[in-house]
Amino acid sequence: MTDFISLPFYDLLHENAHVPAVREKLPPLLTGVRRSILEIGAGSGLITITLADSTPAEIFALEPSPGMRGILLSRLTGRPELLKRVTVLPYDALSLDLPEPVEAIVMINVMYAMEPEYRERLWPVLAGALEPGGLLVFTWRDGDLPAPHPLKEIDSRQVGRHTYASFSEIIESGEGRIRYRTVYRVIADGKVIDEEDIVGNAYRPAWNVLEPELTAAGFTCAAAPDGLLAWRR
Ligand SMILES: C[S@@+](CC[C@H](N)C(=O)[O-])C[C@H]1O[C@@H](n2cnc3c(N)ncnc32)[C@H](O)[C@@H]1O
Repeated sequence: MTDFISLPFYDLLHENAHVPAVREKLPPLLTGVRRSILEIGAGSGLITITLADSTPAEIFALEPSPGMRGILLSRLTGRPELLKRVTVLPYDALSLDLPEPVEAIVMINVMYAMEPEYRERLWPVLAGALEPGGLLVFTWRDGDLPAPHPLKEIDSRQVGRHTYASFSEIIESGEGRIRYRTVYRVIADGKVIDEEDIVGNAYRPAWNVLEPELTAAGFTCAAAPDGLLAWRR
C-alpha cells in the first residue's frame, strides 16, 4: 500500500490539526464501551492512545501501512502497560478478520482515502464485525469541496535548527473527489534539504451518497458532535 502521507511529518503536523477536536469529542460517544473497539486506519496511534486512555476496552488497531505501524508500535512501546491491551492488525479494512464482533468501530480521517467502490464494500464488512446495537463512529464533513488553488503553505513546525513545512495544491475537485498535491519540505537556513512531493486523490462523499450506503448495510444514524458521524448497527 502506498503512503500518501509523509511519515516523518505525520505527528508533527497532525498532533495540532484534527487530533485535539477528536480527542475532545470522541470519548463521550464511547461512554459505556468496555469490552472491545476496532480502530480502522490507526495510523501512528494518535487516536489509539485516546481510545486506550478513555475506555477500559481491548483495542484492535488496524493499519495497512508498515511505516505508520512502525510509529504506532513505537508509541505503544513507550506505554508498555498498553502492549497487553492493543492488538495491531497489519492489513487493510476489507481484509478484516476478527475472532468475535466488537462493541464499537472508530475510523478517524480514513474515509477520504477510500475510493467509492471500496467504501461501499466496506460498510457490510463493518456491520459484520460489530455486535448488534454496536456503534460505528467516523469523521465526515459536509459542504462544498475545496476549489482548485496553486501550491500554498499549510503549516510548519520548528525542529531544532530546521523547519518542517507542508504545502498543498488542489489540482481539481468535483463529484466527491479531490485531486491534490502535497509537498513536504525540511528547510535549513532557507535551503530545502529534504523534500517529498505527493499527488493523490481524496474522497468526500455527500450526505445523500453516504446515508443510503450505511442504511443498506443495516446502520441507523445516531447523534454525534460536529465533524463526526455515529451509527448503530
Ligand atoms: C490521515 S491517516 C489517519 C490516522 C489516524 N486515524 C489519525 O487520525 O491520526 C489515514 C490512515 O488510514 C490508513 N488507511 C488508508 N486506506 C486504508 C484502508 N483501506 N484500510 C485501513 N486503513 C487505511 C492509512 O494508512 C493512514 O494511516
